[in-house]
Amino acid sequence: MTDTAAEAGETEAETGPVPGSVIETRGLTKRYRGGQLAVDGLDLAVPAGSVFGFLGPNGSGKTTTIRMLMGLIAPTSGTAHVLGCRMPAASRTVLPQVGALIEGPALYPFLTGRGNLVRFDSADPAADPRTRRARVENALDRVGLAAAAGKKARTYSLGMKQRLGLAAALLQPRGLLVLDEPTNGLDPQGMREIRSLVRDLAAEGTTVFLSSHLLDEIEQVCTHAAVMARGRLLVQGPVAELAAGARGRLAVTTPDPGDAARILAEHGATGLVTEGDRVSADAPPGGTEPADLNAALVRGGVRVRAFGIERASLEDAFVALTGEGFDVAG
Ligand SMILES: Nc1ncnc2c1ncn2[C@@H]1O[C@H](COP(=O)(O)OP(=O)(O)O)[C@@H](O)[C@H]1O
Ligand SMILES: [Mg+2]
Repeated sequence: MTDTAAEAGETEAETGPVPGSVIETRGLTKRYRGGQLAVDGLDLAVPAGSVFGFLGPNGSGKTTTIRMLMGLIAPTSGTAHVLGCRMPAASRTVLPQVGALIEGPALYPFLTGRGNLVRFDSADPAADPRTRRARVENALDRVGLAAAAGKKARTYSLGMKQRLGLAAALLQPRGLLVLDEPTNGLDPQGMREIRSLVRDLAAEGTTVFLSSHLLDEIEQVCTHAAVMARGRLLVQGPVAELAAGARGRLAVTTPDPGDAARILAEHGATGLVTEGDRVSADAPPGGTEPADLNAALVRGGVRVRAFGIERASLEDAFVALTGEGFDVAG
């Protein structure tokens, strides 16, 4: 992140949002009354037009951050700007421009899914009643809820409630969507549908900020990501760069695994693992070209059946950053 404002000698309080960022936080911190430090000095910058994955294990501070962004709770310290305006002060002007789905959408249990959307749409003073019907049907359709629209919301599964909450966020076209764990409670097919919807929305020009505790989810749909652990930001940037930060693993398949491991080690490879006829290792740092490693193996008499680099995933990046696995429990 550039820090030109700070270089110009401005204080943090005077520093406005970076142009081109639809969400920006500086030192954003939340300590709950019980003393729990849920978000700790968060500096986040979400570029306009991105699909931004806000990633972290359960309890890492994602929902707390989103609640501060949406003006639902006040930060203990630090600032948050959304669409260029300071939150929570500007809630009344900002929130009508943002579609939001936050943990456990508040639904009317005794209304149908369709009835819920009609009620939400009616509560929006900017929504023209004459076109309400079309908006509601369109939103139901987009989230795949058209067939179940006549059922009471209290009979909905968690995944269907999640879809209905998402439909409510889609009633009006918005420049920014903020979705807290939008695929919670959905089966793999439902997750695919939501990913495809997010891609469509992004293609229409909506910036989508979505949280998830599922790495895979973020890798498949997001252009950018930020990784949280225990209330702190570990890293943020384009997904391709984050994954590239972790080195890929070399993998060699050979009937001579002992010789292969020895030669790889001689060329600086570390983290060697031999399983049957397969030897894998971390690529040497700064290092030897994979093609040269392969040539060295062959020169050393190793019969190479297959040689490749497994692309590093976000999970590899997370493990490299934290030294621990990504906890997906709960
Ligand atoms: N209302 C609250 N009061 C006290 N502690 C809370 C409250 N909400 C969340 N926490 C704590 O703050 C931390 C971050 O929680 P949360 O923001 O919900 O994380 P995430 O959404 O990443 O799972 C957790 O340790 C959680 O127990
Ligand atoms: Mg959460």
